[in-house]
Amino acid sequence: MSCSRCAVSFCCCFTIFVAGIIALIVWSAISGYRLPACSVEDFYVPYLNVTDNSTSVRTNHTLYFDLRLKNREPLVGVSYDDVKVTFFYGQNSSLSTPIGNYSFPKFYQGHGKKARRKALVETYGVPWEAASANVSNGSTVTFRVGLSTRATYESCSDDGGCSYHTYALVQGADIDVDGSGRKVDKQGIRLQSAAAAPQHTCRPVFLGLPVVLYFLVLYV
Ligand SMILES: *[C@@H]1O[C@H](CO)[C@@H](O)[C@H](O)[C@H]1NC(C)=O
Ligand SMILES: *[C@@H]1O[C@H](CO)[C@@H](O)[C@H](O)[C@H]1NC(C)=O
Ligand SMILES: *[C@@H]1O[C@H](CO)[C@@H](O)[C@H](O)[C@H]1NC(C)=O
Ligand SMILES: *[C@@H]1O[C@H](CO)[C@@H](O)[C@H](O)[C@H]1NC(C)=O
Ligand SMILES: *[C@@H]1O[C@H](CO)[C@@H](O)[C@H](O)[C@H]1NC(C)=O
Ligand SMILES: *[C@@H]1O[C@H](CO)[C@@H](O)[C@H](O)[C@H]1NC(C)=O
Ligand SMILES: *[C@@H]1O[C@H](CO)[C@@H](O)[C@H](O)[C@H]1NC(C)=O
Repeated sequence: MSCSRCAVSFCCCFTIFVAGIIALIVWSAISGYRLPACSVEDFYVPYLNVTDNSTSVRTNHTLYFDLRLKNREPLVGVSYDDVKVTFFYGQNSSLSTPIGNYSFPKFYQGHGKKARRKALVETYGVPWEAASANVSNGSTVTFRVGLSTRATYESCSDDGGCSYHTYALVQGADIDVDGSGRKVDKQGIRLQSAAAAPQHTCRPVFLGLPVVLYFLVLYV
């Protein structure tokens, strides 16, 4: 059908390609953007490394973390506000006081790109002795990490007009740490949205429209 026509003319192929791109852009614009995917790739608490007996470690109240942020939109860049990271100690700690925090400056991330943010954080108020007793015992202790920022997607058309869509990005995850001082889970720990993000659910519903558009252009 259209394939034979396509073989005849390069111009036709190009039209189909452009129509596909337009369909993708329209799809993104009407269905909302997917929030960036955030995960904790590394988490290390020197004090809880039971194999290290040195006094420098017994007075070390820092924790180290390595955060990964991925822009899941294939065509649109995203601007992050200052990325605020807060840490808590213990399970069910969403209501407890933070033991530490860190803030990364705002930055821009191109479509499909990944970024890593690492830092050493000074902590306050962790019951170190009790935590240490637990991990020495072979059990684990739980930390919680919370991330808070705003993600703004900017899409610009050829005539220079730009539209902006801003979403609150508030996510968190529990991190279990054992006597190695590292997180138990060897893989990255994916942060979950604190509240359900409604723009995810409506996406497949709108998928039909750009597909229809695509084939309309194809057969004109
Ligand atoms: C650490 O100290 C404990 C007792 O204080 C001792 O039993 C253990 O062997 C020490 N570990 C190392 C690696 O020095
Ligand atoms: C724990 O401390 C020991 C001794 O200093 C060190 O060799 C080891 O790499 C540390 N563990 C981790 C997970 O960093
Ligand atoms: C605490 O431990 C970390 C990791 O081993 C190290 O980079 C940092 O310099 C230490 N901080 C202090 C105050 O000893
Ligand atoms: C967490 O805290 C809430 C409110 O304080 C409580 O209702 C809930 O049972 C707690 N969950 C766990 C697992 O402790
Ligand atoms: C962040 O930590 C600092 C101390 O390092 C503290 O003064 C400040 O209140 C904390 N901010 C939040 C939002 O927890
Ligand atoms: C130590 O572990 C026990 C059970 O495994 C738990 O009830 C307790 O809260 C833990 N203590 C700390 C300080 O994490
Ligand atoms: C040792 O582990 C057990 C469970 O594995 C826990 O109930 C107990 O509280 C732990 N002891 C200490 C001193 O944390």
